[in-house]
Amino acid sequence: MLQQKATNVYWHHGAITRTDRERLNGHRGFTVWFTGLSAAGKSTLAVAMEEALFERGYHTYILDGDNIRHGLNKNLGFSPEDREENIRRIGEVAKLFSDCGIITMTAFISPYRQDRQTARSLFDDHSFIEVFVDCPVEVCEQRDPKGIYTKARQGIIPSFTGISAPYEPPENPEIHLRTDQMPLAECVSIILEYLGKQKFIPSL
Ligand code: ADX
Repeated sequence: MLQQKATNVYWHHGAITRTDRERLNGHRGFTVWFTGLSAAGKSTLAVAMEEALFERGYHTYILDGDNIRHGLNKNLGFSPEDREENIRRIGEVAKLFSDCGIITMTAFISPYRQDRQTARSLFDDHSFIEVFVDCPVEVCEQRDPKGIYTKARQGIIPSFTGISAPYEPPENPEIHLRTDQMPLAECVSIILEYLGKQKFIPSL
């Protein structure tokens, strides 16, 4: 657990609540947290989900690992400590977006169970949906859209998740998808159905 460093800081409440924002938006704010190996399909799924939700007139945003590492988290690498900090910041940012009443999708490998649990614990109203984007490493390696598995095998990229660094699969995700066995549209339908059933969005 990270230490509170700043002293003499006090929480300041605004006049507009999350419920107010959700009423204005016409839907709840929540976070769909995609986790899985590189090339498992996290970003692809997040983009397809966002299209489906946006089409229905919902307010959405994607926080994507590769993109966030160009800005907010550009000072972080891939050591266990840096990955932990990467996920800690994204958990906090996702919480802020959700508080804004936005449907937030995060696409980070987020390899460590503890770090995902820490992110989840920020959402005390259970508005955190963990989606395990499950795909065998051999298939991810065949896909290799960025050519990074090849580099990892050659030892050019050290500590590469699934090859030379660990990935701890979720034990109890809200949704578990095998992206090597199901087409994208079906994965999207499964998530939408879950969101409808759990009353995150109006039922389809
Ligand atoms: S995480 O482990 O901290 O959650 P994150 O999702 O932000 O990772 O970034 C993963 C992306 O960074 C991969 O898709 C890949 O493009 C790139 N990358 C570069 N080096 C590594 C590495 N050693 N392990 C995993 N991904 C890496």
